Amino acid sequence: MSLVNALNFSDKRVLVCGGSDGIGYGIATAFHHAGAEVSVTGTKEQGQYDNDFSAFTFYRLDVRNEAEITSLAQRIDTLDVLVNCVGAVLWKKGEFERQGFEQILSINLSGAMQLCTEFYDHLVKTQGSIVHLDSVVSINAAVNNPAYSASKAGLVQLTRALAKKWGPSGVRVNTVAPGMVPTKMTANQSSPEHEAQFGQTNPIARFGTPQDIAGGVLFLASPMAAYVTGQQLVIDGGLTL
Ligand SMILES: NC(=O)c1ccc[n+]([C@@H]2O[C@H](COP(=O)([O-])OP(=O)(O)OC[C@H]3O[C@@H](n4cnc5c(N)ncnc54)[C@H](OP(=O)(O)O)[C@@H]3O)[C@@H](O)[C@H]2O)c1
Repeated sequence: MSLVNALNFSDKRVLVCGGSDGIGYGIATAFHHAGAEVSVTGTKEQGQYDNDFSAFTFYRLDVRNEAEITSLAQRIDTLDVLVNCVGAVLWKKGEFERQGFEQILSINLSGAMQLCTEFYDHLVKTQGSIVHLDSVVSINAAVNNPAYSASKAGLVQLTRALAKKWGPSGVRVNTVAPGMVPTKMTANQSSPEHEAQFGQTNPIARFGTPQDIAGGVLFLASPMAAYVTGQQLVIDGGLTL
């Protein structure tokens, strides 16, 4: 089979959970440009965002609510690619409190697991794949974010476990670990001053962009990665070297 058109998703349906903003919105846009029919989710109503969703189908979803995930899976008939960009972090030591710790685990890890299981049957039918967004903190840990770090490390092993379980049924599961990308999540660490400082030690001396991350996600969802499953693709400009 030729791989020349491997990044053409024109007959594919893609759902980007957490695609309302930031990296997820960039991934949704990249899939749209590659020809896919794309749906995105956000926690608020569509009109409450500044982003333009006219190219997408928008669904409201809070993954802390199990029934909302079940209902979303019932509303979507067919799916080739599930991208899980849902992610949350607590600042000011909030993750050192049990309630805060469990909140982050619930969004970043339990939500991810339920998304995978609810959409598994869809993906078996299309021989599709799942791509999660974890983080480089799954490798080197964030000192003030134990829940975020643990949840992202957990997501890597969840990816591996589900890839092992579901490989025989033709469903691949992979994960992408971004480095530092300016979004609303990282707004407190992504000023031009932060980037100048960051650039002194990072091999590729700039922050990443949603497009940088989208490239890896499209690769993993494409036939180019037909024999790739259970893997973490680090896209961090060399931050973890
Ligand atoms: N930015 C970085 O430097 C970086 C680095 C490594 C990994 N990541 C990961 O990349 C992913 C995207 O992050 P981002 O930086 O693009 O941040 P973002 O702009 O804040 O996007 C996070 C997405 O998750 C959604 N979300 C948050 N809580 C949710 C919940 N309870 N239920 C359902 N959806 C929820 C958000 O919806 P709303 O828009 O409605 O809030 C948004 O769509 C996350 O998994 C993050 O951990 C980011």
